[in-house]
Amino acid sequence: MAQDKSASDRMEKIVSLCKRRGFIMQSSEIYGGLNGCWDYGPLGTELKRNLKDFWWRRMVRERDDVVGMDGSILMNRQVWVASGHEATFSDPMVDCRNCKSRLRADQLPEKDGKRQCTVCGSLDLTEPRAFNLMFKTYVGATEDESAITYLRPETAQAIFVQFKNILEVARKKLPFGIAQIGKAFRNEINPRNFTFRSREFEQMELEYFCRPEGGLELLEYWLKERLKFYKDIGISSELLHIHKIPPEECAHYSKGTYDIEFDFPFGIQELEGVAYRTDYDLTQHQKASGKLLEYFDEETKQRFVPHVVEPSAGVDRTVLALICAAYSEEMAPDEKGKLETRIVLKFHPRMAPIKCGIFPLLKNNEKLVRQAREIVKILRPHMMVFYDESGAIGRRYRRQDEAGTPFGVTVDFDTIGENGPAKEGTVTIRERDSMKQERIAIVELKSLLLDRID
Ligand code: GAP
Repeated sequence: MAQDKSASDRMEKIVSLCKRRGFIMQSSEIYGGLNGCWDYGPLGTELKRNLKDFWWRRMVRERDDVVGMDGSILMNRQVWVASGHEATFSDPMVDCRNCKSRLRADQLPEKDGKRQCTVCGSLDLTEPRAFNLMFKTYVGATEDESAITYLRPETAQAIFVQFKNILEVARKKLPFGIAQIGKAFRNEINPRNFTFRSREFEQMELEYFCRPEGGLELLEYWLKERLKFYKDIGISSELLHIHKIPPEECAHYSKGTYDIEFDFPFGIQELEGVAYRTDYDLTQHQKASGKLLEYFDEETKQRFVPHVVEPSAGVDRTVLALICAAYSEEMAPDEKGKLETRIVLKFHPRMAPIKCGIFPLLKNNEKLVRQAREIVKILRPHMMVFYDESGAIGRRYRRQDEAGTPFGVTVDFDTIGENGPAKEGTVTIRERDSMKQERIAIVELKSLLLDRID
């Protein structure tokens, strides 16, 4: 119980820091918000962009066997009929007759053999009904049956329906993949745990097409690749868990699925699914569209529908995991040597929204300010930097610690030669986690930082 309390305190602090420092805010807040929807502020946007860019670099640009695509959110309704989403993409839902809450039946505790309402404790609940999670909309001026489609609940289907076009233009041989990052929408019954379960979110998905006999091996391969990715963005393996979904719980078309889970303060929860989806999706679209979605193997002269292994990660969940993993509170001396709580986001420099803070020691000294602004000009084309001249230097460091900025550069009187020529043209560079400072020449600053942030 004590641990639960400290975990929920920690989550509360994280949510409050996210708002205070402009990482993540409630959508449409001035109108009371919209449940399950979130906006990213300046720091959150940078963090999210760094994550997506690094995923793209690892999964597409650094590989010969993967190409990218960017599909539309609205697609022909038949895509969702063929994929099975229209008929089966649903959660079982019950209503509480006492407090009128609507709840997911599969997430409720039981008492005396009956499901119990988590809001009021009543056992008087309706029978479960299937509740489709897709947001329905109408395309065009008429709101009739023929105009219905849905906001996509996953990005993957756009990849499947463009498989043939991309195969032709990319001229790739199996195995090869198509990657996409984009928005997905699900009308979740109970959005919760901050951004963890949202109604609007982003996915980073790869559909890796292969021969049927290669599927199971590639499932293991992609699990390992994805675990490496999390290490490379600074999420320690101790915070990750691999959950092999038992065969009876896998989707009927899947021959194997791993969930990569993260130790969030609110519990161990899924970050990414790595699934071997067989040839299910392409076969469904082939049947429904009447268009062949086969691969022709030049060597064996065989035609067949490729199988697919899919690593599918959530952008928002990974951003939340990055923030939770990075959040740290420690005691550190202030400028007068008095111990105070230092809040630090210990992001990997690769993910950090701002890479370097730049500080003139005093704001009312023209030479210091000019030199600091010069450094901003040198670094800005290469990385996100932040210039700050207000307040005591210790306060400025603390503000950047809280934003997760890994380096701080201070321009002082040595830099401008006021204490003699020996240290002229040098600055101090402070490392966020150790708080250690070293002195280096301004001319070396750019390459030193570029080395450390990548
Ligand atoms: N194409 C496969 C697919 O969509 P999924 O397990 O339903 O599989 C993949 O979703 C990932 O998308 C999840 O692991 C999670 O990171 C993210 N995701 C799914 N639903 C989400 C939600 N409501 N809010 C935030 N992220 C979500």
